[in-house]
Amino acid sequence: MYEAVSGALREVYRRERPGSVLDVGAGDGLTLLPALGAQRCRVGVVEPSAALLAETVAGLERLGVVHESWQVTAQDFVAAHAGRWDVVQSSFALQSLCEADKREVLSWMCGHASRLVLVEFDVPEVVDVWDPVWFFDCVARVERGLREYGADRDLVGVGFVLPVVLGKFSATSPPANHEVSIVRWRELLGEAGFGGIRVRRVADYWWRPAYVVEAIGSS
Ligand SMILES: C[S@@+](CC[C@H](N)C(=O)[O-])C[C@H]1O[C@@H](n2cnc3c(N)ncnc32)[C@H](O)[C@@H]1O
Repeated sequence: MYEAVSGALREVYRRERPGSVLDVGAGDGLTLLPALGAQRCRVGVVEPSAALLAETVAGLERLGVVHESWQVTAQDFVAAHAGRWDVVQSSFALQSLCEADKREVLSWMCGHASRLVLVEFDVPEVVDVWDPVWFFDCVARVERGLREYGADRDLVGVGFVLPVVLGKFSATSPPANHEVSIVRWRELLGEAGFGGIRVRRVADYWWRPAYVVEAIGSS
């Protein structure tokens, strides 16, 4: 899946030739770094985790890319920054934001980017996670997913299956994740002011299919 997502970003860079790219929630750079390849542009990285940000920054330095980085959340970043970017991208990170924060961050992105490339899973919204149809489908997906991993199984279990998937069933802690459908992402982008919204299925993942949503900002 990550190869497909990096490939989709690489295509955007080839087509648009951006002078600047801002990656919001870049993690350890697993998507960003392979996408950059030989592309030389100014790169900004927003990532709240110090350890993950350090890995991305080290990768950018290895590639000799001119870069800036901010160890903050997307919410804190947009509250304090005014610069503009040719491309703002975010893969599997904005799902961490609640609805109000999604709106605020997307609205900033629209006003500060020529183009947004958003990558997210298409997750059907469910009223009751104990609904047997949804529940048994979820269990089957998790089982299939865990079978796909060898050495990485614990990492995926602790980093994704527990917080994102099983977190939906917690009766005591608030959700760590606010996944929505791609239809809903389209609506949110439209409401934030983006135009020319295009959606493409980029990879089939055991959890849900991943989509690239490209949209034109107003900057
Ligand atoms: C599943 S990882 C994806 C990382 C990277 N974009 C990729 O495609 O490999 C989600 C990332 O979002 C970051 N994140 C979580 N909450 C965030 C927030 N409020 N603002 C920005 N990034 C956030 C996490 O620290 C993590 O690095």
